[in-house]
Parts: sequence; C-alpha cells; structure tokens
Amino acid sequence: MSSIEPFHVMDILARARQLESQGRHIVHMEVGEPDFVTLPGIVDAGRQALADGKVHYTPATGLVELREAISAWYLREYDEVVPMERIVVTPGASGALQLALGVTVNPGDGVLIADPGYPCNRHMVAMYGAEIHGIPVDETSNFQLNLDLIRQHWQSNSRAVMLASPSNPTGTLIEPAELGRICDFVKQQQGVVIVDEIYHGLIYQGDVISAVGAGDNVIVINSFSKYFGMTGWRLGWLVAPYELINPIDRLAQNIFLAPATPSQYAALVALSESLKPALDERRNQFQQRRDYLLPAIRELGFETPCKPQGAFYLYARSTALAGDSMALCRDLLEQAGVAITPGVDFGNNHSNDFVRFAYTTGMDELKTGVSAIRQYLS
Ligand SMILES: Cc1ncc(COP(=O)(O)O)c(C=O)c1O
Repeated sequence: MSSIEPFHVMDILARARQLESQGRHIVHMEVGEPDFVTLPGIVDAGRQALADGKVHYTPATGLVELREAISAWYLREYDEVVPMERIVVTPGASGALQLALGVTVNPGDGVLIADPGYPCNRHMVAMYGAEIHGIPVDETSNFQLNLDLIRQHWQSNSRAVMLASPSNPTGTLIEPAELGRICDFVKQQQGVVIVDEIYHGLIYQGDVISAVGAGDNVIVINSFSKYFGMTGWRLGWLVAPYELINPIDRLAQNIFLAPATPSQYAALVALSESLKPALDERRNQFQQRRDYLLPAIRELGFETPCKPQGAFYLYARSTALAGDSMALCRDLLEQAGVAITPGVDFGNNHSNDFVRFAYTTGMDELKTGVSAIRQYLS
C-alpha cells in the first residue's frame, strides 16, 4: 500500500467543491470524463433490463450477445475480424487492465510504461508485485514510447509494455507503423504489449487503427466510459490471444464474478449503428473545444509542444508562468476559480513543469476559464 498514491487532483476537486459551497463559481477543467450524460437510448435499455429482472450474474466473461456485438463493431469500425471468443467484458477498462496484468506479470517482472502516463497503471503493476519502469517521454517521441526507447530500456526481467493511444494526459497517438515495430520487438523478447484504446472514437486526426491485429502477444483494452459516455456504468472489455482467455476467465470469476448486468444490456444498444451519429456529434464537440482551447492556452503562455490528436486533454508546460505547477494549480483555483490537474499526477518526468487541462466542460465555461486565467496572470 505504501506505493499506492492518491490522485493529487482529488485535493483540488475537494477544495473546488468547498469553494463552490461558499458560493464561488469554479470552472472545472480537471475532470477526466465526458460532461455529456449517457444517450437516452442507452439509458432506456439499462432501465428496461432492470424492469425485466435482468439483475443476476452473467458469465464472468460477459454476455455472449455483447461479446458478439463487440466483435461486429470491430469489423464495422476497423475492418478487423476479432472472434468473440477473444473478447472479455469487464468492469471498465480498469477491470480489463487488472485482468491483463494479472495474467501477464509475476512478482519481480518489469513493466515498461511512458512517463507521463495514466497514473493507475503504475499502481496496478505494484499491486501484482511487479516493477514499474517509467520511461521519460517528451515531444521528440510525441510523448509516446517508440521502438528505440523500448529497446534501450528493455531488461532481463522485462515482461510487458503498456501503451495508451491516444494517451492520457497528452492526447497523442502512436503511429501504426511504430506500434507494429514495438509489438514485433516485444514478441522477439517473449513479452506482451498491453494497448489501452479507451480514447478510441475520440480521435480528431491521424490514422485510426486498432492494435487488435498487431500480433498474438497483444492485449487490447477498451471501455464504454469515454466515447460511449458511460463512465458510471462501469463497463469495458479486452481482446486477448486465445491462450489467455481461460486464465482471464478464471481470474475474472475470482475478482469480479461478472461485469454489471444492466450495464451490459445498455451497452448492446450503445454499439448499435443507429447511435453512431449522436456519439460522433459529441466527438465533434470535443474537437471544437480542443481547437478553441489549444491556441487559447498557448496565448496565455502555456507551451503545448505536441498537438493532441485525440482524447480530451491538453498537457501543457507551465514553466514560463510558474516554477511549480502544483502551486500554480492551487493559485489558479483559489484566485482564478479554475481547476486543472497538476503534472505530478502522471509521473515523475519533469512533472512539476506541466499541468493537464481537460476540455470536459462546455465552450462557454472554457471561455470563462481562459479569461479568468488571463486576468490572474496579468
Ligand atoms: C488511459 C485510461 N485507461 C483507463 C481508464 C479507466 O477507465 P474506466 O472508466 O473504463 O475504468 C482511464 C480513465 O480515465 C484512462 O484515462
């Protein structure tokens, strides 16, 4: 437990709520989930499942219909054939990551991750007694791992590489060709690549390919949380090589028993083609927000060396404005009424020089936030 850290942004959030209860208006740009509520068609399906008494456990790997629907979705969206037998439905991407690591690493194994990166990964690796090898990344590799970095840091105990494309906190993508090279190299070393595609569907430019076709040593993670707008329904999935499905099933039976049943019925509707236009419209709104916020924060003096291609985050260097980004976040909250996330939540790599803006609030709020920051800085 001593290595499991809390999110520092939770302190910011708690203080923001306190200020709000005192009547202050706070612009929330720290929240890592869509502000949109779940689409009505999906909600109706969840409600109907409850009304129909669909409240019992499903198989630990999820409803067969949902696994089939995810398989059909891969064919439709990516032209990839993914047999439903390779798909396991999980309690969010969080559940999928726990299962993927559980069947991959042993105590003492090394896991390579990008720093900055999604904070829970290093803590989940620690939960299994494995060692995290955080590799500093910056604009020279689009804030992603690449083959050179992985080759350079691969050690005798290395067992897995965790990638996220688009990444949290940077929103950058891994080039398809680079992903292929990474998977080939790791396979030669008898290692596994875990690719988190939770922000797929929220990609604004660049080639969209899924790693499901990248090799038989690849586990792909995805979720209904972000693009499908279902964070609180706690549902995700993974795609794994055949030989890992039985161990994953056994582990899932023991850790989770099953993913939430009404959520699975709702997710069947989320995947239907008829909802795609409404979901894509939300993606367009995120893109408009990014296109507004990126130049706006650059004009304020934040430096964003890479244009984020997806997700809903801007990872910005704040050194021109403050020496310590945590102190800047506190000041912005207290004095400008704007909540953002300090870089320290995402690793140790110059994290005091960075902050993360999440554009998970409406355009008017973003504009209010930018002018409040401008006023504070001047
Ligand atoms: C990169 C990444 N992976 C996984 C998760 C966990 O998502 P879920 O809600 O599906 O458990 C998040 C949540 O923010 C994330 O940013």
